[in-house]
Amino acid sequence: MDTAQRYRAFATREAHGHSAIYEELAGRVADDEELIALIDRLPVPKRQPNLLLATVRFLGGPVTGHRAFRSWVISHWDQVSATMRQRRTQTNEPGRCATLLPLLASLPQPLALIEVGASAGLCLYPDRFQYRYDDRPPLGPSASPVSLTCRTTGHMPLPERLPTVVWRAGVDLDPLDVRDADDMRWLECLVWPEQRDRLDRLRNAARIAQAEPPHLVRGDLNQVLPELVSRVPRGATPVVFHSAVLVYLPSEARSVFTETMRRMPGHWITNEGPHILPTVEARLPRPAPPDRAVFALALDEQPLAFTGPHGQWVDWF
Ligand SMILES: C[S@@+](CC[C@H](N)C(=O)[O-])C[C@H]1O[C@@H](n2cnc3c(N)ncnc32)[C@H](O)[C@@H]1O
Repeated sequence: MDTAQRYRAFATREAHGHSAIYEELAGRVADDEELIALIDRLPVPKRQPNLLLATVRFLGGPVTGHRAFRSWVISHWDQVSATMRQRRTQTNEPGRCATLLPLLASLPQPLALIEVGASAGLCLYPDRFQYRYDDRPPLGPSASPVSLTCRTTGHMPLPERLPTVVWRAGVDLDPLDVRDADDMRWLECLVWPEQRDRLDRLRNAARIAQAEPPHLVRGDLNQVLPELVSRVPRGATPVVFHSAVLVYLPSEARSVFTETMRRMPGHWITNEGPHILPTVEARLPRPAPPDRAVFALALDEQPLAFTGPHGQWVDWF
């Protein structure tokens, strides 16, 4: 997929229905040869639409309409490209815990959670959030500042109680620190402009993490994971999980990770694009919808559901 196609796909498959302004801006970038030529000067992983759009907001540029956006990007390209090279797409979406929860609750308790590609680690607190599945009674602490709503289809096993988490840790190439103002602002810029609920959720989840910061290790998941798993306290079930991470790995690194995971004790929860893990893709009971972005949720490489990329829905198989 070339850069123009990438921006068009982002507009129609990801932003459509979720952010009218991002749909417009990404769609117009796709048709703009001058902007595409600038973006193509960056290494391929840095050409991501989300990264450009978040960068412009982070630097105080306008994301109100194409004309202002394009002239600002062109006149500030040195700054824009430097920030895109320096930062990464690290959208940390605690809403994804709503799709992970049925699996976490089904495993032998208590749990030791290890998230790879954890960003700021906000998905490491599934036991601190409240959950509302469809019109069922809420689950979890009523005083939680984070309330996650999730639509379900199929026969999702509704958890009766929250998991018991006795240990939590994460690894990231560049962990973000919820106590650092610049890192928080970057996280906020990664939330799409119209999504006020997601922004509130991010800030509220960050309050939980600020009160009890997660143990996050800087490094590549393939390098760091075995040592982290070896530190899981006795008696706890190790659960390695990740969402929206393996897409950033070259396929060889994905294979190394898969082999490592097969040797690890405990369980492995993946919530990634349906074509990212070959074994999960091969076992899907039906093809993923072609017209919108979805994730495939799997436990130990056994697919169990399609999920909304931000945790907004679960379609259980
Ligand atoms: C889109 S974010 C998702 C964050 C989090 N998993 C969530 O669902 O909210 C992807 C994260 O993976 C991290 N990442 C990408 N490649 C990695 C690698 N090889 N090792 C460790 N972390 C990596 C990025 O730095 C980024 O923070």
